[in-house]
This record gives sequence, C-alpha cells and structure tokens, in this order.
Amino acid sequence: MRSSWWRNAVFYQVYVRSFADSNNDGVGDLPGITSRLDYLRSLGVDGLWLTPFYPSPQKDHGYDVADYYGVNPEYGTLDDFARLVEEAHRRGIKLLIDIVPNHTSSRHPWFEAALSGGDDPHRTRYYFVPGRDDAPPNNWQSAFGGPAWTRLDGAPEWYMHLFAPEQPDLNWWNPAVPAEFRKIITYWLDRGADGFRIDVAVSLHKRRDLADRPLVPHRTTGLPTTAPGFEIIDQPEVHDVYRDWRHITGTYEPERVLVGEIFDPGRQSRYIKQDELHMAFAMMDRRWDASAWKQAIDVYRHAVSRSTSLPSWTQSNHDVIRHVTRLGGDGLGRERAKASALLLLGLPGQYFIYQGEELGLEEAFVPPERREDPLYIHTNGRHQGRDGCRVPMPWRQHEPNAGFSTAPPWLPTPAAWDRNAVDVQARSTTSVLSLYRRLLEIRRGLARRLPARMDWAAAPKDCLMYHRGPLSVACNFGHRSLELDQAGRLLIGSTPGVRRSATGLLMPPNSAAWLETRRSAAS
Ligand code: NOJ
Repeated sequence: MRSSWWRNAVFYQVYVRSFADSNNDGVGDLPGITSRLDYLRSLGVDGLWLTPFYPSPQKDHGYDVADYYGVNPEYGTLDDFARLVEEAHRRGIKLLIDIVPNHTSSRHPWFEAALSGGDDPHRTRYYFVPGRDDAPPNNWQSAFGGPAWTRLDGAPEWYMHLFAPEQPDLNWWNPAVPAEFRKIITYWLDRGADGFRIDVAVSLHKRRDLADRPLVPHRTTGLPTTAPGFEIIDQPEVHDVYRDWRHITGTYEPERVLVGEIFDPGRQSRYIKQDELHMAFAMMDRRWDASAWKQAIDVYRHAVSRSTSLPSWTQSNHDVIRHVTRLGGDGLGRERAKASALLLLGLPGQYFIYQGEELGLEEAFVPPERREDPLYIHTNGRHQGRDGCRVPMPWRQHEPNAGFSTAPPWLPTPAAWDRNAVDVQARSTTSVLSLYRRLLEIRRGLARRLPARMDWAAAPKDCLMYHRGPLSVACNFGHRSLELDQAGRLLIGSTPGVRRSATGLLMPPNSAAWLETRRSAAS
C-alpha cells in the first residue's frame, strides 16, 4: 500500500511574484519563499503550490513560459530552487510546481523558430492555419477577449491562442509536444518537485476539424454562446497524456501528484481517476446561502465518488476576486470567510489556501494605470482584471509597502494595507491568522480519527451541520443568532461569540463551530 501523503493535506498557493521579496526589487522571489518557510510551517500547511517561476516575458505573469527548464532571473536561480526544495522538505513541507502545457510564450525558442519561415518544422508544434479570405480560420474566441487567432504581418496563416496573443497554443497532436513534456516533468521531479498543478488541464488537444462554434442565444443574457455539447477542447486524447504522466509520477517514492486546473464537476469525474489526476479544485464561489453551499459541496463530493480521491476545497486563487470581498467585504465578509473556513476544513478532502487568505485579505483596488493583467488589457478595461487579488503580501506594519519590499512593489500597496500585516495578526489571539493556525492544528490532531465519510445532520433553517466521525461542524449562514441543541465539546468557533450555553450551542450570525462528540470514527 503506497503512502498517500496528499490525501486530506492542506496546501498553500504561493503567488511567487507577490509573496516575499528577498532582494528588495519590488518583486517576490524564490529565496523570499525560503525565508518564509517557518511562517508557513507555523501556519500548519502540508504543501505549497508555486505559480510559474520559469523564464518568461511576464505577459501573463509566468503563464507564458519561454524556457521550461529554468528560473526567471527576477525570481532567482536553479540553485535557489534546490535550496527551497531542501528547506521545505526539511520542514516536512511538500512542493508542487505549476506546469503550463497548453501554450508557450511567443518568446519560446520553438515559436521563434516557427516564425523564421513558412517551412520551418516547428510550425507544426503550434496551430498555424490559413485564414478564410481576410478572416481568421474559425470563430473561436480568446479567453482574454477577441479572436483566438493572430496573423503576423499579413502572412497567409494565423496562429491559435486561447489566451493572449503572446501565448500561442501548442499542437498536442504532434508527438514532439508530448515527448517534450515528459522530459520537462521528469526534469522537475528529479529536482525534487512533489507534483504539479496543471494549467488549463483539459485543453491540450483541440478538436481536429477546427470547426466553427455553432452559436445559440445564452439562456439568460441572450448573447450568442457556444451550443451545448460542442467541445473545442477536452478531447479523449487528453486522458492519454495524464495516464502517461500518472505512470511517470508513480515511479517516484513518495508518490508525486497531479492537480488539474479543472473546476467543472462533470469534467472532474472523468479526469480524477486511479490512473489519471489525483486532484482538481472544488471552487466554492457560491453566494452566502446555506442551501447553495450544501448543494455545491454535494456536487463536488459526487464528482469524485467513483474514484479513490476526495475533493480539494478552495475559495480563492490568483484568478478570482478574494472571497472576503465576494462574501460581502469588510467585517461582514471576513466573518463569513472565517465561518466558511471552518465549514470546508472539516470536510473530507484537501484544502487549498490562497496566500493572504489566512490574513482575511480583501480584494485590493489597483489604479487603472497600474493594472498589468492581460485580461484587463485585452478587454480594453471591460474586465477589471485580476490584479486586485495579486497585490503583494503585507508582512510588517509601519514599514514601507507593508514590509514586502523597500522598493515600490510591482503592484502598488494600497493605503492601510499593513493593518492586516502578518506581524500584527501574529500578536493577536482573535486575528484571522490565529484562527487558521489553531484550526489547522486541531485538524492535524484529529486527523487519524476522521473518516473519509461525512453525513449531513438535521439543522435549523439557514444553518448547515454535518458529522464526520467524532467531529461535528455547524455553520450559521443566517442574519440571526441561533441556539443549537447539540452536545459535544466546543473545539473552536469562528468568532468569540460562538459558545456553549446551559442547553446548547450559541451561534451568532455568520459563524461556524467545530464540536467533538463521542461518535466513533466508523460512523
Ligand atoms: C489559468 C491561470 O490560472 C491563469 O492565471 C492564466 O491566465 C491562464 N490559465 C492561462 O495560462
């Protein structure tokens, strides 16, 4: 029986550019992460996911890779990576790295060679396709706005990019592409990576006929949208790639893992398998409503029910508005976010924290002239972009740029950003940071007694409750305080107002609690 260190692990997503800056140039780096490993250990996480740190022109902040075998000089060197691996492992922390197989940077040597002439063989590693008169080869759209095709200097052929024009899509039908990625993943596994978060994991092969998307009016907006059942991506051959990668990761001990960037539960059930991916993200971005959360939790549990895996709960990442803001912002959003952490961290499965979540950070305002996200740039500002969740971490109060760097950071530090700095929160017993530390500590303490199964329990309106062996978790989504008739020792409440009364458990609005009951682990 293999050890499965990753099951029920708590991961922490490090957005490398914004986590910690060791050389005061305004940009986070690998030695910065190494210098903060004790912080991460004291938080109690089991593993990190690092966003891409490869050499890159940074047109999509690392998701445009120019060299899959190196480290962006802004972020350090391969030796810095080796040191980070060594120091993380010394503290019992695993390290997942981001792999970007769908597209390269337009500055990758393959693409540069492809542009060198119409008969260069590298062109077949991308999608270079003749247009229709003066129009692109089909009506596919880029996720960042506009056509998914660009033509250079009136050339007869267009190239495909499902993201920015600086991110040409690789042609996975060409065997040279999968062969190269086997080399890449082996290279990093041999350097100590414990696994990969796989960017846009289901997109690799595009439908062979490159047919136009049939358009139908959207159910609610009426705007033209792709007809249901028509797939550009998610071709059967993508599964072959992950079966191959799973085989490769399986030859390492302890086991290395594959985490797909897949949010759709239907897709998760097809990709999370004994011989494909280990995990994907159960993104909990529902409005604050008990039945909506219950339904979402059940949908994600169901998605993996036929595999040996469990869901990987997550609430935020570098692509979405921070969940404190989504849940109402300010004090209200923060209370709800603390409650949702208890609700989700009690469930069977992994949990992914996004950096700063443990501080209760809100989405930051980034002035339009300082925004860098290609999503903002390519939609001409119609989309506000994702910079607001990528603003550098506040480490110390009363220091320039909240202690991130003495140089102006790549995204500006908002006024009063240091109010929630790590040093302030570390000193307070009622901070979000203290809550997360305590929560992860209790979770670790209970780990051996928590079964993989949970059962919903009857609960009053606006409240969810479940049992998982000796742990009972309740969450009050409502605007009113509740008194729950529930026995057991109160292990932790999301807010000091959660407490035992003579007859039950008092729960203020937007709060959650963990109770230890006498139920056996088998229940
Ligand atoms: C998903 C990544 O999370 C996002 O940041 C990036 O822009 C796209 N994939 C394209 O690589």
